[in-house]
Amino acid sequence: MSTRIVIDCDPGHDDAIAILLALASPELELVGVTTVAGNQTLDKTTRNALVTLEIAGRSDIPVAAGADAPLRRQLRTAAHVHGDSGLDGPELSEPSALPVEAHAADLLAELIEPGVVLVPTAPLTNVALMLERHPEVRDRLDRIVWMGGSIAEGNVTPAAEFNAFVDPEAAAAVFASGIPITMVGLDVTHKALFTRAHAERLRGAGGAGRFVAELSDFFQAFHERSYAFDGSPIHDAMAVAHVIDPTLLTTRRANVAVETRSEFSDGRTVVDLRGVTGREPNADVGVGVDAARFLELLVSRIESLA
Ligand code: BDR
Ligand code: CA
Repeated sequence: MSTRIVIDCDPGHDDAIAILLALASPELELVGVTTVAGNQTLDKTTRNALVTLEIAGRSDIPVAAGADAPLRRQLRTAAHVHGDSGLDGPELSEPSALPVEAHAADLLAELIEPGVVLVPTAPLTNVALMLERHPEVRDRLDRIVWMGGSIAEGNVTPAAEFNAFVDPEAAAAVFASGIPITMVGLDVTHKALFTRAHAERLRGAGGAGRFVAELSDFFQAFHERSYAFDGSPIHDAMAVAHVIDPTLLTTRRANVAVETRSEFSDGRTVVDLRGVTGREPNADVGVGVDAARFLELLVSRIESLA
């Protein structure tokens, strides 16, 4: 039996690839996609989610747009990473499907049943709003696998990873909710780089493969310039991969608290690996990854979409 998942995202190159990985994987059934402002504004992230589903011929999957700004802060996008469209690189056509009428927070509440895994790959604004509007969902949401946070260095500030930094109040609310959460942060995503060789393998492999190769051309150029990386971390796809095959990641149970009131460290995920705070563990935190196996899974699954 496949695991039903909902992806709450802000596509975003790696969000789009995460969606395609889910669609290509028989272990998963993607039952809905919700969008939030993050990498780009909400209109763009919603269009990009619809475009991605259309490329895979899966416009039957409902897409609901959610929050157009963080809970209490101004939106900070990542246009320098993802471009003006949020998916710069490939030529994007307008999607023919439309989002459903429902707000993302309400569609999430509707789709979440016992057994469904929520995979947010974006700031946690929609998830926090869902918990606020539909507190009863807490009891039937078994598991969240979130791409975000970092034990060590951040990628927006020295202290904070983007998804945590954009809406720290939302992240703090979700970590405090008591729902089992796995944090797939930069500590693991930066260890598995999708290279130009991976892109070349996909370029000739049908529409989805070409789309991913062209996304990677743009995404990789940013990572070469900014990090001197020889490839790009496909952060969000690692959260989906963890649901497909939990053995890809090594995790540690720890308390995670999110900084919301600091001059230098807002959005920092404070991970208490040694239990020095006395705070109860509330998360499983990614600390290691089998990079070769993750990348092979990702590339071979996208190839199979052709
Ligand atoms: C996260 O931030 C976004 O730019 C990516 O889509 C990913 O979700 C990585 O820090
Ligand atoms: Ca994302």
